[in-house]
Amino acid sequence: MVVYQDSTDGVKPSHLIGFFGGWPGPPSAETHLRILRQSDHVLLARDDGTGQVAGFITAISDGVLCAYIPLLEVLPGWRGRGIGTELVRRMLRRLSGLYMIDLICEPALRPFCERRGMTPATGMVRRNAASQSGLS
Ligand SMILES: CC(C)(COP(=O)(O)OP(=O)(O)OC[C@H]1O[C@@H](n2cnc3c(N)ncnc32)[C@H](O)[C@@H]1OP(=O)(O)O)[C@@H](O)C(=O)NCCC(=O)NCCS
Repeated sequence: MVVYQDSTDGVKPSHLIGFFGGWPGPPSAETHLRILRQSDHVLLARDDGTGQVAGFITAISDGVLCAYIPLLEVLPGWRGRGIGTELVRRMLRRLSGLYMIDLICEPALRPFCERRGMTPATGMVRRNAASQSGLS
C-alpha cells in the first residue's frame, strides 16, 4: 500500500531509486531529492512498509496566475494501480485556484491527461542535453 505526503519529510536519496526511466543522463537520487525540495509543490506516494517513493509529482508556480507540472512518474512496478491518477488529482486540487496549469506529455499520454481534466494545446520546448542530470 502507498501513503501520500505533500513534503519531503523523512525522504532520503536511498528512497528515490529507479526514477527518470529512459533518461540517458538522469539526475542522481541526491539531485532528485533537491528537485523535490526546491519545487513549489511536491506530492509523493510512498510504500508504507519500506518508505520507498513509488511515485511523485512536482509543480512550479508563481502563486498568482500560473503553474507548471514538470515531473510526474510512477515506478514501473507500481503502475496501473491508480497512483498516477491520485497524484494528478491531488496536485490539480492544490493548484485549482490558478488560471493556468500546464504540463507537457508524450502524445501517447494525451488520453491519460485528458481523462484527468486537461486540454490538449501546442507547446514549445527547449532542452539542453548537457544539463540533463541537473545543475550542481
Ligand atoms: C503516466 C504514469 C505516471 C501513470 O501512472 P500510473 O500509476 O500507472 O497511473 P494510473 O494507474 O493512475 O493509471 C494508468 C493510466 O496510465 C495510462 N498509461 C500509462 N502508461 C501509458 C503509456 N505509455 N501510454 C498511454 N497510456 C499510458 C493508462 O492507460 C491508464 O490510463 P486510464 O486510467 O485513463 O486508462 C506512469 O505510467 C509513468 O510514470 N510513466 C512514465 C513517466 C511519464 O510518462 N510521465 C508522465 C508525464 S505527463
